[in-house]
Amino acid sequence: MARAHNFSAGPAALPTTVVAELGDALLEFGGMGAGIMEISHRSAAFDAVINGAIDRLRRLLGVPDDYAVLLLQGGASQQFTQVPLNLLAPGQAADYLDTGTWGSKAVKEAARQGDGRNVWSGKEEAYRRVPGSDDFAVRDEAVYLHYTSNNTIYGTQYAAPPDSAGKPLVADLSSDIASGPIDVGAHAVIYAGAQKNLGPSGVTAVILSPWALARSREVAGLRPGGLPSVLDYGLYADKASMFNTPNTWGIYVLERVLAWVEEQGGVTAMATRNADKAQALYTELDRTDFWRPHAVADSRSQMNVTWRLPSTELEARFVAEADAAGLRALKGHRSVGGIRASLYNAVSIESVEALVAFMQDFESRAG
Ligand SMILES: Cc1ncc(COP(=O)(O)O)c(C=O)c1O
Repeated sequence: MARAHNFSAGPAALPTTVVAELGDALLEFGGMGAGIMEISHRSAAFDAVINGAIDRLRRLLGVPDDYAVLLLQGGASQQFTQVPLNLLAPGQAADYLDTGTWGSKAVKEAARQGDGRNVWSGKEEAYRRVPGSDDFAVRDEAVYLHYTSNNTIYGTQYAAPPDSAGKPLVADLSSDIASGPIDVGAHAVIYAGAQKNLGPSGVTAVILSPWALARSREVAGLRPGGLPSVLDYGLYADKASMFNTPNTWGIYVLERVLAWVEEQGGVTAMATRNADKAQALYTELDRTDFWRPHAVADSRSQMNVTWRLPSTELEARFVAEADAAGLRALKGHRSVGGIRASLYNAVSIESVEALVAFMQDFESRAG
């Protein structure tokens, strides 16, 4: 069966050329006489894979040399817990910007560890925008400011990191990592589940500044009994992400996806490609009132484009007809409704053009 145009929000489309090559490594890898999933994570062959993955991530994102890059498990959701656990001593404060679901989940876990709270929330505005620097004030006592770079569900994205008033910045980059250049050095912690732009689910990239790592070691000393081993940044940094068995298959695929990104010209090339795709779709959304984009113009995401139609019946028909036409996974998340097209790195401009052509045809019939 031919591959359809895949607009899934995650796990999401992977580059077809990468997927086509994966089968070989399943059967036999690196002269080991066994597949990549069947060899020890302590073997030299796997060592080259994980080191290659981390090196590529460092190169692609321009990670400063003194930062640590970890490949962990537990998804971005584990980071909602792990960030405050490692950065806050008992009772300490951390500030959060709530741009919807993911930010809300993150602050909930911070509130379990200390005085984690939102200093801004877009809830009253149906999460249609990200805040500007005049919208919030970081508390003096806050140890860090946390934001969600791209909200996968509502389709909003920061054009630049929020102003943290000099506090360490923590970012959930799950749905826009490697989609364009980012100033890693301006962040204390960056984390991202792999299953949108980096590879399959089950791997989480975590990037830690020297401050964050030192802080984790300090907090481990301040918490009664220390930190649980599997949630301890310091321990995972000391063990080069291999305190326990990592997701070897996931890391292998991630390494291959990053090789593809590098071949395409890196994150600068991705930024151009993603801007072109987003522009093609937003131009169509702005062409007629039949489409009702969810995000306000200056908060629009290049990764997840969300919009409504005049009725829920038309939305259901749109999704069903699109699906039949080979345009898959366009149903919006239940908290927004309507339509969501996810345009991650691996989604081609041809897929977006096919979607726009379908939309124009649909509107001419149903509008
Ligand atoms: C921005 C963002 N943060 C966090 C998560 C949660 O990720 P995970 O399911 O890997 O825990 C998601 C999932 O889609 C997400 O889009």
